[in-house]
Amino acid sequence: MYQLIYLSHASDDFDPYGDKGIQSILQTASMTNSMNDITGMLIYRNHIFLQLLEGGEAEVKAIYEKIKKDPRHKDIKTILTQDTDKRVFPTWSMAYSDLEGREIDLVNEVMPWDQIVTDFKAGKHIENKKILSIFLRFKYNQAA
Ligand SMILES: Cc1cc2nc3c(=O)[nH]c(=O)nc-3n(C[C@H](O)[C@H](O)[C@H](O)COP(=O)(O)O)c2cc1C
Repeated sequence: MYQLIYLSHASDDFDPYGDKGIQSILQTASMTNSMNDITGMLIYRNHIFLQLLEGGEAEVKAIYEKIKKDPRHKDIKTILTQDTDKRVFPTWSMAYSDLEGREIDLVNEVMPWDQIVTDFKAGKHIENKKILSIFLRFKYNQAA
């Protein structure tokens, strides 16, 4: 089992609510990911994407190659790749959050979202294990 996390900046003309917006991404993801036994979570806020992909190494890498070429985002930066024996989201083909309401607190308790974005834009090192634990916060919040 393989996990990959990346950060990216939405393209200037990306409209999250438009025809090719978030709903369209999630529709594609839900179909393609189920077929390839890929799970994970997508976060989108203020033109920044943070995504966890997990599954077989070949499948994750193949999807990531497609995602990297997608014109809806740019400045894609891989934050973490690792082998693991356990998925964070075994049953979600692609969970989603826009970090509205108290969900932003889940992130901020681990590492402030604004800090992540600032470090990302500045090309600074981002602590990948902390980013992974953001997704774990969502998982356990879900289970609670
Ligand atoms: C931020 C973002 C996340 C995406 N996540 C996924 C995903 O998890 N799974 C997926 O199949 N496509 C995802 N896509 C869509 C792919 O980039 C691509 O459009 C899709 O795989 C269809 O590619 P194809 O037309 O070459 O088959 C994502 C796109 C963006 C912009």
